[in-house]
Amino acid sequence: MPADGAGRFLKACRREPTDATPVWFMRQAGRYLPEYRALRERHSLLELCHTPDLATEVTLQPTRRLAVDAAILFADILLPFEPLGLGLSFAKGEGPVIERPIRDARAVTALPAVDPAVELGYVLDTVRLVRAALPPAVALIGFAGAPFTLASYAIEGGASRDFALTKRFMYAEPKAWHSLLGKLAELVGSFLAAQVRAGAAAVQLFDSWVGCLSPADYREYAQPHSRRALELARAAGVPVIHFGTNTAGFLADFADAGSDVVGVDWRIPLDSAWTTIGATRAIQGNLDPLALFAPPAELERRVREILNAAGGRPGHIFNLGHGVLPETPIDALQTVVDLVHQRK
Ligand code: CP3
Repeated sequence: MPADGAGRFLKACRREPTDATPVWFMRQAGRYLPEYRALRERHSLLELCHTPDLATEVTLQPTRRLAVDAAILFADILLPFEPLGLGLSFAKGEGPVIERPIRDARAVTALPAVDPAVELGYVLDTVRLVRAALPPAVALIGFAGAPFTLASYAIEGGASRDFALTKRFMYAEPKAWHSLLGKLAELVGSFLAAQVRAGAAAVQLFDSWVGCLSPADYREYAQPHSRRALELARAAGVPVIHFGTNTAGFLADFADAGSDVVGVDWRIPLDSAWTTIGATRAIQGNLDPLALFAPPAELERRVREILNAAGGRPGHIFNLGHGVLPETPIDALQTVVDLVHQRK
């Protein structure tokens, strides 16, 4: 029988037994691949995202090298900022720059209504092209940013270390905060549903920076909006993955936002995370991306440790605890894929 990674991945999302643990990597398309860097010499990141043929090519690149069970759509969580009128660019070496950040309640009121099926239609075109070009044995994962993480970029105007402007806005302008996150939740929830209709087999909601909140603040300021986005995505009928970093302090609340799969980072052992989120959820994770730089025997030990923590229970999708770093050796990623697939 031919290898069916897509079947394996989807079964694990539904906590059904599989022939091997499925594996894919967050940021598996990107700068660690020379063929990606070659395309980036000729095109900006936004050009790659805006051009469905190029975004399709970049999505497929890692699947030609690595026997991963899923591909993640090539796009960026910040693309909705363009139709929202915030202005988005990526400065070399500095990450995203939001030209007109949201700093007051008026800016929230002024946000235009966005129909992602129309204004982010180019992303949906990419989904269709990738699905047609991807080997059937590889699942296609769509994604969007969670309301909190998107709001943090919209308010800070770019990357942040302490999220000072975000929290000050949250505490001083709670009504405007909830209005902003409510709008973002509707936008990303319907965007995820549109990606499913275009052919995504599963979708992931990225709440990368929500771990900067206290548990009480998570419940009050972020969770209701994540719950709404996840609910809209789940109504589309495919498995939904909910990922965040630094969520160990409020993992039960994070899981309670509702998703089929909970993504966790390496700051918590996989088995204790699974105990916290409960046996009714699948779990994704959680190798430290820096383990890929360790000597091979040490990398292998760490991969086995995670597989042992999962204990062969149905419902584990192997992944990193955050994205692949640009300097990552490609061989280390294939080593992980082989180790994960060999173990029953
Ligand atoms: O392979 C994949 O994972 C698919 C594509 C993807 C990108 N961004 C392309 C990209 C995905 C899933 C994202 C999600 C994303 N974007 C997140 C959530 C995941 C995470 O890593 O926490 C966030 C926070 C962003 C916002 C963003 N985009 C930042 C902070 C940066 C700059 C940081 C950096 O690594 O330079 C980006 C740029 C970006 N998006 C790159 C890629 C491949 C970097 C590459 C480049 O300049 O070519």
